[in-house]
Amino acid sequence: MNLVVVSNRVARGKANEPMTGGLAAALLPVVENSGAIWVGSSGRVRDGVHKEPFAEIEALGSGALATLDLPAAHYGGYYEGFANSALWPALHSRSDLISTSQGDYLSYREVNAFMARALLRFRRTGTVFWVQDYHFLALGAELRELGVTEPIGFFLHTPWPTACVIEGVPHHRELVEAMLDFDLIGFQTAQDCDNFAAYVREALGLVVHDGIVVSQHGRTRLQVFPIGIDAEKFAGAAAKAISHPDVSRLRRSLNGERLAIGVDRLDYSKGLVNRIHAFDRMWASNPALVRSVSLLQIATPTRGGIEAYGNLQSEVARLVSDVNGRHGEVDWTPIRYLNKGYGQAVLAGLYRTAQIGVVTPLHDGMNLVAKEYVAAQNPADPGVLVLSKFAGAANELDTALLVNPHDIDGMARVLAMAAAMPLTERRMRYEAMMDQLKRHSIQDWFADFIRALQDSENDGAARAGSAPWQRRGTVHGIARH
Ligand code: F6P
Repeated sequence: MNLVVVSNRVARGKANEPMTGGLAAALLPVVENSGAIWVGSSGRVRDGVHKEPFAEIEALGSGALATLDLPAAHYGGYYEGFANSALWPALHSRSDLISTSQGDYLSYREVNAFMARALLRFRRTGTVFWVQDYHFLALGAELRELGVTEPIGFFLHTPWPTACVIEGVPHHRELVEAMLDFDLIGFQTAQDCDNFAAYVREALGLVVHDGIVVSQHGRTRLQVFPIGIDAEKFAGAAAKAISHPDVSRLRRSLNGERLAIGVDRLDYSKGLVNRIHAFDRMWASNPALVRSVSLLQIATPTRGGIEAYGNLQSEVARLVSDVNGRHGEVDWTPIRYLNKGYGQAVLAGLYRTAQIGVVTPLHDGMNLVAKEYVAAQNPADPGVLVLSKFAGAANELDTALLVNPHDIDGMARVLAMAAAMPLTERRMRYEAMMDQLKRHSIQDWFADFIRALQDSENDGAARAGSAPWQRRGTVHGIARH
């Protein structure tokens, strides 16, 4: 099999480089070992959309990494515009933040079409395409338009919201119809998969039976594949990282106080404002925790050109400063707030140093920080994970302390409880979560998806009574540009 993996952001094989977002970090080790070609954006743009897409190719494990300069005229409308100011807020149920234009949508479609043209270069006998995430919802349809008949799978790393929220995205119907050109659509949770199926039934009037959507494009299988991590490898990295200079300095600075850690992109979906309010409330109602519990919040700036992100950055900075002013002492800072990224190896050591992991998004597809925090713990003296019940990870890590991130008092109480949790209970919770992580690794996720993609092709062809290239003919309702 010649596997071609596609995502907007890609990662290079250096464990010590900061990586933005869970997708790139999660995919790197499995793509490296699979021999796949991983195709994505170089992060640069280039003039002349109609020119042949240019890819720079380098070795990546037993496979290769191909990065493309995306068309300059459409990059802004695609990335900051449609992908991150229409789809991202909607997928995270923030319809109030949707702000886009017809031009953004056309640019999004242009970049999807551009990527499809670029992918043809990697197509050979036995190719299977695997598209990642919301940047490329229309890529399957664009590939079909170019005559591609091979299996094409898609995995959504974010949540999929209820129908009335996704209907807030201009062109939602065209986009979901375009998605039905994928043979397999994977989701993080059963809730996301059910929401998608409900939309397809109600808005498109299609039948979904046993997880298969039957449409004029053929058959599309909908299935849940919760993404995992390599817990044992991460645990090993955490034990080693304890001697890293940043990690040792952090330990020395603690003077016996307990540390809570949060590591997030500076994104409104991560619930940072509510989290800081909860710590504020915790110190206000438990004066004994002043000086004895502090927070290290790493918040990596992201998507700075979008107004909502700029506003959030100012709001969080102001709030941290207020809380530090209110509870700080001459020799104690309640919240250490860092706006930079760290490599996975250092992060593993920071997680192991912290007695409380705080992962409290308002909505999150999975959230791999939650899983990494657990895996990084010292089994003899593990920390406590405080986890939003609205993160996909809460479905699996149900022995974490689950919180409602909108309930500030409730979160403050749970944080105080986490700080006081006895060792036996911490170990019991940690062991249950670690078992779960080992049973559903990133390697399993990768293999399960590829197997289902191969099966879905066979199922689809057999049920349709025709070859895949005959099922995939006209593309109705999809605007061509
Ligand atoms: O869906 C999740 C994800 O792909 C993450 O990997 C990352 O958090 C985000 O979306 C993309 O972020 P960015 O815009 O920085 O590439």
